[in-house]
Amino acid sequence: MRIFVLGSGAGGGFPQWNCNCPNCAGLRRGTIRARPRTQSSLAVTDGGGAWLLVNASPDLRAQIESCPELQPGRSVRDTAIAAVLIVDAQIDHSTGLMTLREHTRPLPVYCTPSVHDDLTKGYPLLSVLEHYCGVDWRPVDAIGGASFTIPGIPGVELHPVPLPSEAPPYSPRRHAPAPDDTIGLVFVDRASGQRCFYAPGLGEWTDRVVEEARRADCVLIDGTLWKDAELADRGAADKTGREMGHLAQSGRGGMLDRLAPLPGRKILIHINNTNPILDEASPERARLDAAGIEVAWDGMEIELG
Ligand code: MLT
Ligand code: MN
Ligand code: ZN
Repeated sequence: MRIFVLGSGAGGGFPQWNCNCPNCAGLRRGTIRARPRTQSSLAVTDGGGAWLLVNASPDLRAQIESCPELQPGRSVRDTAIAAVLIVDAQIDHSTGLMTLREHTRPLPVYCTPSVHDDLTKGYPLLSVLEHYCGVDWRPVDAIGGASFTIPGIPGVELHPVPLPSEAPPYSPRRHAPAPDDTIGLVFVDRASGQRCFYAPGLGEWTDRVVEEARRADCVLIDGTLWKDAELADRGAADKTGREMGHLAQSGRGGMLDRLAPLPGRKILIHINNTNPILDEASPERARLDAAGIEVAWDGMEIELG
């Protein structure tokens, strides 16, 4: 099983178009050591040529160009993307669906009923897509927890995991989310049994999250913010991480404390542009290095099995 990080940034990417925080300004000026990052997306394959796109970011067009295997060129209109899976209905995870409208048949889209509800009502991307390629919705039952595979990618088993987070700002369930408004996924390499737990929007550690994180050979986990009040501290916005459904890395019971006892590889993903860990020379990044925690980057590949 191979996991290709198409985009390791959170909503807005890095640098964000209107942001002049020390990170965004420093990256533009070349005064900090950091890599630009596009918005949150992965591609997963069993090596058989077909890929599952996990989240469709607003940067999808450029992300596809960044991974030549997604464009095998076998016919005049072609893609190696066999299906799309959306983990939440946030703008950064779903807007790229519009980029896929030229698909030559109904687009297989895996998402939970709650995500489907938001993407057909408050932000009706799936309804709009019906007027282009059409949508072949495959409901994901995260509450029942049934595992599944994607046609064309039989070597990767997917286990959905409900995550406590928040629904998108436009959702009628914004601060009273349903259990399947945000999910994580365990990708299992069926040949070796190796597991990757992916949870880019995690507000709180449930028993199930602890169990999946412990069992995983690799966790790819919410790295949005270093501090809960980071956006306000940087004068960028008044929302806290908690209000957005993201558990910050620092502080007691924060992500670093949670990751410390885990046996597998630990990688932060969905990094917001305000997060000091993006500066590779920062003391915060040095703390991650000392704790054996990696920071995902665009183009990073994870091989399991
Ligand atoms: C989030 O996960 O909270 C998002 O990145 C917000 C957004 O896309 O605007
Ligand atoms: Mn997001
Ligand atoms: Zn910024």
